Amino acid sequence: MSKTYKIAVIPGDGTGPEVVNEGLKVLRAAGSKFNFKYETKGFDFGGERFLKTEEVLPEGAVEELKTFDAIYLGAIGDPRVKPGILEKGILLRLRFELDQYINLRPVKLYDKRFCPLRDKEEKDVDFVVVRENTEGLYCGAGGFLRKDTAFEVAIQESINTYKGVERTIRFAFEYAKKRNQKKQVTLCGKTNVLTYAFDLWERTFHKVSKDYPDIKTDYAHVDATCMWMVKNPEWFDVIVTDNMFGDIITDLGAMVQGGMGIAAGGNINPRGVGMFEPIGGSAPKYTGKDVINPLAAICALSMLLEFIGQDEAARKVEQAVIKVVKEKLKSLSAGKMGYSTSQVGDLVAAAIG
Ligand code: IPM
Ligand code: MN
Repeated sequence: MSKTYKIAVIPGDGTGPEVVNEGLKVLRAAGSKFNFKYETKGFDFGGERFLKTEEVLPEGAVEELKTFDAIYLGAIGDPRVKPGILEKGILLRLRFELDQYINLRPVKLYDKRFCPLRDKEEKDVDFVVVRENTEGLYCGAGGFLRKDTAFEVAIQESINTYKGVERTIRFAFEYAKKRNQKKQVTLCGKTNVLTYAFDLWERTFHKVSKDYPDIKTDYAHVDATCMWMVKNPEWFDVIVTDNMFGDIITDLGAMVQGGMGIAAGGNINPRGVGMFEPIGGSAPKYTGKDVINPLAAICALSMLLEFIGQDEAARKVEQAVIKVVKEKLKSLSAGKMGYSTSQVGDLVAAAIG
């Protein structure tokens, strides 16, 4: 008997539910085309629930989520809730407690019409960022001294463990091997200033690289990485970096690949449950208008399918996205696509056949 995948769905805030709906439409199309079975269960985590119940994540939620094959997430963030409460209480807590230590963010241009860089084509923008996802400045280590006085001190520490760094770098090398393209891993750091944290990263990078003699290694400071991503994105294959730098360079990456409307990411625990999401956030001003681009969420679904082992379906979803982007869309931005959110979902579902 074939397996029935269990997929947890967290539509979340803002435009999250709208884009997740389109992703689920595409999942239905892929399921019948490729003959796999799945069941979904929705979870109402987000701003609305918090405002009603003052509860961010209910008791037992993390344990329950561990029983699923994957989590499909829309967006977390609500302007009515103080910044940090939902982000830390839902998104970061799930990343940490499910030990999703990799945040994988492909930067791939599907149609050169949507690239903001002059003279760059599809073949020039195709790399992935492997972002460490459970450590660094995101740990919440630090605190205040003499808060609200003229002598206030605020400390926010970056935590880097050998284990955390090693497993992230190893994932990046494995991924470069599996991608089988340029076979190159670039460490993005700041070894000239952050001489403790990135010393550990650099030493570990060289140590791990010895296990991968076929993979080329490269290093770029984070500021230079931003420059090269704009000037020569074709130089990159796999970039590995810490949590904070990874957060920043992947927003730049999203712009280079055509905007937040198309940028997806996966929070991955290779031996656990992964969580896949469009990286653009909840976009409150577009909520409920049927104008947001659902393709980032649909690309996240493609990553989810690959992660659970439905490689063929994953590839087909990506090909359907490319077809719709190339043949139909006027823009990748909200309200300018030439189609509504739900029409774009219909087009992708139809392209799957
Ligand atoms: C992202 C987001 C989150 C992050 C926020 C919402 C906490 O920007 O997924 O990139 O910083 O990781
Ligand atoms: Mn971010």
